[in-house]
Amino acid sequence: MATIFSIGSRVQTLDRWGRDCAARTLLFRRHCEDLRVVRIERISSLELPELAPYRTLKRSATHATLGIFVAEGDKVLDRLLASNFTVVSVLLIEERLAEYEPRLQARPENITVFVCVKPVLAELAGFEIYQGVLAIAKTPPPLTLDKILADSTHPQFFVAMDGLSNSENVGTLMRNCVAFGVSALISGETCCSPFLRRTVRNSMGALFKLPVLESANLVQTLCALRAKGIKCIAAHPRPAGKNLSQADFTGDVCVVFGSEGHGISQDILSVCDDAVAIPMANNVNSLNVSAAAAVFFYEANRQRGNS
Ligand SMILES: C[S@@+](CC[C@H](N)C(=O)[O-])C[C@H]1O[C@@H](n2cnc3c(N)ncnc32)[C@H](O)[C@@H]1O
Repeated sequence: MATIFSIGSRVQTLDRWGRDCAARTLLFRRHCEDLRVVRIERISSLELPELAPYRTLKRSATHATLGIFVAEGDKVLDRLLASNFTVVSVLLIEERLAEYEPRLQARPENITVFVCVKPVLAELAGFEIYQGVLAIAKTPPPLTLDKILADSTHPQFFVAMDGLSNSENVGTLMRNCVAFGVSALISGETCCSPFLRRTVRNSMGALFKLPVLESANLVQTLCALRAKGIKCIAAHPRPAGKNLSQADFTGDVCVVFGSEGHGISQDILSVCDDAVAIPMANNVNSLNVSAAAAVFFYEANRQRGNS
């Protein structure tokens, strides 16, 4: 294995730090069998076009078209680097480079590592949250229903979201899904993207382990699941249906959760087999959706002998 050092081509203003860094800036790593490159580029501002996704807290339509998303913070980046997602670039402060370099070099793809001093990165909102480390990765190719069915073992355990619009809730729900062994998450057409920056962060990287099917029509997807013998259970706080302990989770199931504001839509409810509520005291109307999901998943696993 040969390691080649070269000089960064786009260090923008060469102050003393920049000159020091330029002397040891681009690291190319070549493997005998294939050419994989970790390119370290020292920057003194965030103006490069490749850095645009880092500069916004939103996931713009452009990011969706490019099929990329931003991951931020140590734990999320650790899990991204341990996953089979494709990493495009990493942005970090100089002090963090040494600890990340071995893991970056162990990756199979070409990665550009943008390195800067803390004041440059502190220009981005939320520095404390991302701890001076961020990455851009590619969204995986879209999944099909056939694929998630083929890849899951019986009794199958799917989760669907109808209209969830809060990215933090979606992230926390994903984390619960992975923790409780859900095979795949189905995101309805009215949900926010599973690849929003805040969703990725709140999932704590669970997103990298959870197959997510973005359905263009949740009613049709649930009908297709039912046609395969998978029972669709609506998590619904209204008391008309069954209580959680009366519901049967022992077979193939898909548990459906509704939006923060309006719950599950009538269209979705009408294609579910059951509506099931967690009993609540003191006239509380509903739980936070990810809290409700954790209670459902615990009960499902208990019934399946997985608790
Ligand atoms: C904040 S709640 C929605 C509240 C909405 N106003 C309603 O009445 O349906 C969001 C979602 O969490 C789930 N959920 C919350 N509390 C629940 C409970 N006690 N039993 C079953 N599901 C619950 C449901 O899927 C619900 O659609």
